[in-house]
Amino acid sequence: MGTEVKNTDTPLSLKKFHISEDYGFILPEPLTDLPAHYKPWMDIARNVTELISSHSLRLRIHDMPLLETHLLQTHRELRLAHLALSTMTMGYVWQEGERETVKVLPRNLSVPFCEVSRRLGLPPILIHADTVLANWKKRDPDGNLELLLTLPGGESVRGFFLVTLLVELAAVPGLKSILDVINGVHYNDVAMVTKALDVVSQAIDSMKQALKLMHEYVDPSIFYGILRIYLSGWKDNPSMPEGLVYEGVQEKPMEFSGGSAAQSSILHCFDELLGVQHKGDGGAFLRRMRDYMPPSHKHFIEDISCRPSLRNFVLQQADEHLTHTFEQCVARLVDFRSCHINIVTRYITIPASRAKQLRANKQGLVDELDAIRKAPTALEERGTGGSGIMVFLKTVRDETKDVYIPHCTNGNQVLPDAPMTAIQKAASELTIE
Ligand code: HEM
Repeated sequence: MGTEVKNTDTPLSLKKFHISEDYGFILPEPLTDLPAHYKPWMDIARNVTELISSHSLRLRIHDMPLLETHLLQTHRELRLAHLALSTMTMGYVWQEGERETVKVLPRNLSVPFCEVSRRLGLPPILIHADTVLANWKKRDPDGNLELLLTLPGGESVRGFFLVTLLVELAAVPGLKSILDVINGVHYNDVAMVTKALDVVSQAIDSMKQALKLMHEYVDPSIFYGILRIYLSGWKDNPSMPEGLVYEGVQEKPMEFSGGSAAQSSILHCFDELLGVQHKGDGGAFLRRMRDYMPPSHKHFIEDISCRPSLRNFVLQQADEHLTHTFEQCVARLVDFRSCHINIVTRYITIPASRAKQLRANKQGLVDELDAIRKAPTALEERGTGGSGIMVFLKTVRDETKDVYIPHCTNGNQVLPDAPMTAIQKAASELTIE
């Protein structure tokens, strides 16, 4: 029987890594409320948007009692607490835009936030695992989705987080098939690997279809001008060069990156499976993003990376169907990343250059001028409207192409639309309306 599976004698299992058969990395059925003791948190967290617009969130947080965290017992309680405390933290820091930030997070917020974060193994800042993975409920039996907590930006914010949730959901069949790919390689079973890789490939295509829903549900000027600052962190951020002091936790300021779907475990898994390697600063950033994931999800990615190389298996077998399926899977990942680059162009590059223009001319619609007053300028200052980000994303996309099999590349092939699997159909029925 084939090569030995490194690391463990038992097959890779989702359960061991707290990954759901139905929801993947998404937290199944997140709690919608905390025990009554934490009402002061939830009352503020549910009203962050209104409190920001009346400029009173900081005052409310100063008046908030310092609550002990020991009554939070289950994982789902801790996840909702992290979501609530991180939402309040982002609102507190960015309430007045990037020009009037704070240096200190008050102890009645920072102490419980750091305790909850430590228990979860997560950083004390808003992350993808909060806003997307643990921030949803079904509004009605038809499966319409709703957020638990939100940030300024109205319907576009709802669209942004829920579309990202649909991308995660579309990935689930592919995630499950990773196990079959690995087992197939282990047992030298070419047919099993080919079949499972085909499911991965279809899942990546479904993720791309879900990603495109961004255009329907999210307004670029609202994303850029209103929401984006609330996702910004205090690491390498010129408007908070010293980071943030978490009062009552440590005197030295701490630095953390902001929330981003680069913290989603999905693409990290597919990269490791296909053998895609990201080098240089971009690779270092992506590796650092793994510290912003639930630890068990990070361990799942690491486990995949320790398994015998799928690409070597494909090369060794020299099976035409398997090679074609592998190539197709890589092509779909490249395609997903190209689609993502288009989205970033529309939602960041173009609004950033418009904002720069408006700032220079001081002419424009009143609403538009107001929105850019609060929008972060850090991007504009880094050259032509986010060129740093674009270089990073294009490098990551091009590094994906490096795993194509020599002399056999399907890189330029026209990819047919993948048929929907049962779970993807279910995902498409969970609508946002
Ligand atoms: C309006 C929608 C979106 C915008 C504007 C956007 C923007 C960005 C930006 C600026 C980065 C660079 C890293 C950073 O600054 O954190 C990034 C990285 C990334 N984003 Fe998005 N993103 C969007 C939606 C999504 C969605 C729905 C996903 C799906 C899970 C996603 C997945 C990723 C991944 C995986 C990376 C890391 C780079 C890579 O692996 O290709 N993004 N995104």
